Amino acid sequence: MDLRDYEKWPSISKSVYESIEARTPVKPSSILITGMGGSGIVGDTIKDYLGNRLPIHVIKDTMIPDWVNGKTLTIAISYSGNTAETLCSALLAHGKGSHVIGITTGGRMLKEFNERGISVITVPSATAPRFGFPQLLYAALAIINKAIGIEKNDIEESIVAQENALHDKSIAADIGKQLIGYVPYIFVDSKVQGVAVRFKNDLNENAKTPAIVATIPEADHNDIVTLMMKHPVKHILVRAGPNPIIDAVEIVFNDFSSQLIKIDLRGNGILAKELYGISLLGVTTLYMADALGVDPVRTDPIDTLKKRMGRLC
Ligand code: F6R
Repeated sequence: MDLRDYEKWPSISKSVYESIEARTPVKPSSILITGMGGSGIVGDTIKDYLGNRLPIHVIKDTMIPDWVNGKTLTIAISYSGNTAETLCSALLAHGKGSHVIGITTGGRMLKEFNERGISVITVPSATAPRFGFPQLLYAALAIINKAIGIEKNDIEESIVAQENALHDKSIAADIGKQLIGYVPYIFVDSKVQGVAVRFKNDLNENAKTPAIVATIPEADHNDIVTLMMKHPVKHILVRAGPNPIIDAVEIVFNDFSSQLIKIDLRGNGILAKELYGISLLGVTTLYMADALGVDPVRTDPIDTLKKRMGRLC
């Protein structure tokens, strides 16, 4: 099976992280990360990893909050450089005095940011935006490292985690097999919710399959009630290490005799767990695309929609 760019992910992660030179304001009071879809998921991942250290706000829209100011570091990510929502929100942040740095492969972002004197970093291209996740993520992490400093060990461990996921290909294939014909209902520990959001997006885009994300503990107060009926869903539980709340959820699933596909994210730190889960479950969706006979790369409705929407700003 063609694993697309996944086999190159570990080496791209390392080379991009080591090559980025970025000037950032010393100690921003908050970080805004704006981007959509395969670019926007970088924000979710970084928020899971560093959101306890300082406020990190993920924007997937044209708008930004009123409080953004000169102490906010904005990282605007658009693989193509042409995504209207990302460009509009980034330019709004720039207008409010925020230090904006773009990450892209080219397009409007490269041209227009250069024209306005906004910093922009170019990264290597991939088969599609979502397959370029490591270059987008590790460029953003390199910027943040310059601004607030991050542990070298976390980066190294996250790259090993990607290799571990590739070794676990047979687990990925087995999960994929169980999901065919169902709507995956992904219950996830809130500490690693980025993994579930990315999995949903990959199910949508690679396997053309709808999916639902339910974040624990909030899902314990609503989604869990759906166990009272049999729906054409397959439940998945993404665990990020010991958590008594998640143990209780498992017991409830058992009580309602609902089958659960359990995924224990390998790795010590949150970043490693994220990269393990995102890589493993991304590969899962490639196996599903193969079994369903669909082209994992094509995303025709997104392309049509972008053409219809135009520039916006
Ligand atoms: C993922 C994908 C989309 C794009 C999204 C934003 O492969 O194709 O989710 O990532 O439409 O586009 P970019 O990333 O170019 O800003």
